[in-house]
Order: sequence, then structure tokens, then C-alpha cells
Amino acid sequence: MKYNFDEAVSRRGTNCVKWDLAPEADTIPLWVADMDFCAAPCIREALQRRLDHGIFGYATVPDAFYATAQAWFEKYHGWHIEREWMQYTTGVVPAISATLHALAKPGESVLVQTPVYNCFFSSIRNQGLNAEKAPLRYVCNGEQPTYEIDFDDFERRCAKPEVTIFLLCNPHNPAGRVWTRQELQRMGEICLRHGVLILSDEIHCELTFEGHSYTPMASVSEEIAHQTVVFISPSKSFNIAGLQMANIICDNEGRRRKIDRAINDFETCDLNVFAIEAQIAAYGEGRPWIEALNEYLWENYKMLCNFFKANFPQLPVCRLEGTYLPWVDISATGKDSDTLCKELLKENKVWLNPGTMYGPEGKDFVRINIACPRQQLAEALQRIKNYFDKEA
Ligand SMILES: Cc1ncc(COP(=O)(O)O)c(C=O)c1O
Repeated sequence: MKYNFDEAVSRRGTNCVKWDLAPEADTIPLWVADMDFCAAPCIREALQRRLDHGIFGYATVPDAFYATAQAWFEKYHGWHIEREWMQYTTGVVPAISATLHALAKPGESVLVQTPVYNCFFSSIRNQGLNAEKAPLRYVCNGEQPTYEIDFDDFERRCAKPEVTIFLLCNPHNPAGRVWTRQELQRMGEICLRHGVLILSDEIHCELTFEGHSYTPMASVSEEIAHQTVVFISPSKSFNIAGLQMANIICDNEGRRRKIDRAINDFETCDLNVFAIEAQIAAYGEGRPWIEALNEYLWENYKMLCNFFKANFPQLPVCRLEGTYLPWVDISATGKDSDTLCKELLKENKVWLNPGTMYGPEGKDFVRINIACPRQQLAEALQRIKNYFDKEA
């Protein structure tokens, strides 16, 4: 293989959230969504060139920053983005918060499909808004459970006068769904019918597996595009989240002006010199790396599934269509996810995310980050086995 994802690089002592916040030095962290892989060579070379220059003053964002992103989304996702629709800021969460600030009035409600990425709740709350939950329907009738949208419930909630925004996660963290064009279209049409604006967080969009292809919400139809603001970033898929960058795509000039105001009010309107170089390299030259990454992640997922099937068939692993964050149903243990994760961390030194982080609907689930060298995942799974064997 051209890229060595098996290489174990120690991240301890590098001011790393995932590793350095672990309570004990020999903990294996499979929690926060970043990967234990070195960034793509094209990104590291671009950063090295910039580093070698030696001066790191204020940066201006060049045309290539926009053009590489435009070309990438056109070529790989069939989505045409005009240059003037694009705005940049320091991350997807800051982008969501600023956009909520710009386009919703305090007291209004934002629809979310729970369980969902935890920062959605804080962004909504911090802007004086309420979360209106449209829970996803858990479907567990075969070997691999999954989630579906309850469209009747979704529409009933969209029809509430206080619901003005739908915050979509496409692909969905932590449900692992890559929403199909049909599903997106149905959600989009419901939002159009009820005048609900769609904010679509598409940060996980490059992380998809065979048979599941990402559809940008704004590419579904022209009408839906006019009703949608999209957030994209190479940060998650290229493992460069610490460099902090995101792109906001909005084809409506009035909304763009308000978002621009909010980004300036929040003082998140500048990028650092390395973020600029990294995005250009990622979208300009990073395709082969992403393809190889997804192949590796899929093998890790298969290993995880085989592990549970062989050892704990009563704990089903949800179907993973995208992201590197499998969602495992632990209801058969009789323990809630907070207790289980605490015990696992303390006794067997594996750090998982309890499902409750993503809403109360997650109380019978854990989220496992499999984006690490396979050997490390194997060691973590062995520790998980030791934990459950002891419990039995
Ligand atoms: C759906 C989703 N959006 C946004 C983020 C974080 O984005 P950023 O680091 O750019 O703020 C994450 C991180 O896990 C995520 O899963």
C-alpha cells in the first residue's frame, strides 16, 4: 500500500486532546473524532514548505483556496459551487454557531435528528435557541441495525411555527448513515413546504464506504439549494482538525451578508497560515490518500464487526455507511452507556464515548472511533473482551 496506516505514531505529550486527556498513560483512546494517522504526504509537504519560509504573519486567503474546493466538489460530488457563495471561518462548529446567530431569532427552535453530534446542542443553546428533536427510528430486525427517518414525525415538527431551522448532519454522526438522495429530497421538500431553512453539516462527506455515496444537500434540487446553507471542511477526513478551518456555502446574498456580519462579530473571520496551505493541498492533491484511507477504515470496521459477532453476538454493531465512528448497541448488557464507559475506562483502560453524549436516545449505545492503526484497535478490542468476560 502506498500509505502506511499501520504505522503507530505516539501522540502522547503532543498536547493532544485524544491522548493527553486520558486519565492514565496506558489508556487506549477511541473517543473524540480524530484519527491516529499522519496527514497525507501532500499536506505535510505543503506545510513543511510554509514552515521553511519562517515568517508567520497575518494571512490573506488566495484564489487557490476557493478554486481547489470548487473543483473537488464539482469533480467528486457533482456539486457546482460559485466562488461568491463561499465564506471561510475557523471551524464547522464556529460556522454553525455564527449562522444560527445570523439567521435565527432568540426563542426559535432548531430541528435536530437525535442521536446527533453533541456540539449541535451547545451551538443551539448558546445562541438562545431551543432544540426540537425529531428522533431517528432505530431499526433492529436483522444482524445489522440501522437508523431511518420517521418522515411523518419530521414533518409534524417542521410544521411547528417556532421551528425555523433544520440542522442536518450529512453523513450522520453517530448513526453512521450516508443519507440517500431520495431521503434528502424528502427532507428538503418538507422543509420547503414549511419555510424551514436547512443548515447542512457535511464535514464527514469524504468518509463513505462502497455502495453509499454522499449527496450534497444543495445538489438535490435548485429549490432546495436556495433553502440551504452547507458547511464543509477537509479537517475531519484529512485529519487536520487542529489547523481549524471550514467553508460556508450559501447561494443567497442576503443570508451571506448576515453570516459575514456574525463571523466578524464573533472574530472568527481569519484563517491561520497553515490552515490555508492544508486546505489547498487536501482538495488539490489529496484524493488518492482519501481513497486509501477509506479502504483501511472499512477493514477496521469489518474487524470490529467480526469481533462482536464472534464474542458478543448479543451486542450488535450498527451498519456503517460513512464516518469512522461505529455505534454499538449495548442494551443486552443491562448497563447504561455512562456506567459502562466509566467502568471500561477505569478497569480496562479503553476510552469510548457513551451514547448519552448524543442525546438520551443514545443511552444504550457506545461510539467507537476505529480510525487508528489496526494493531491498536485489536489491542483495544481485547481489553473490551476482558471487560465483558469479567462482567459475565
Ligand atoms: C458532525 C460534526 N460537525 C463538526 C465537527 C467539528 O468541526 P470543527 O472541528 O471544524 O469545529 C465534528 C467533529 O467531530 C462533527 O462530527
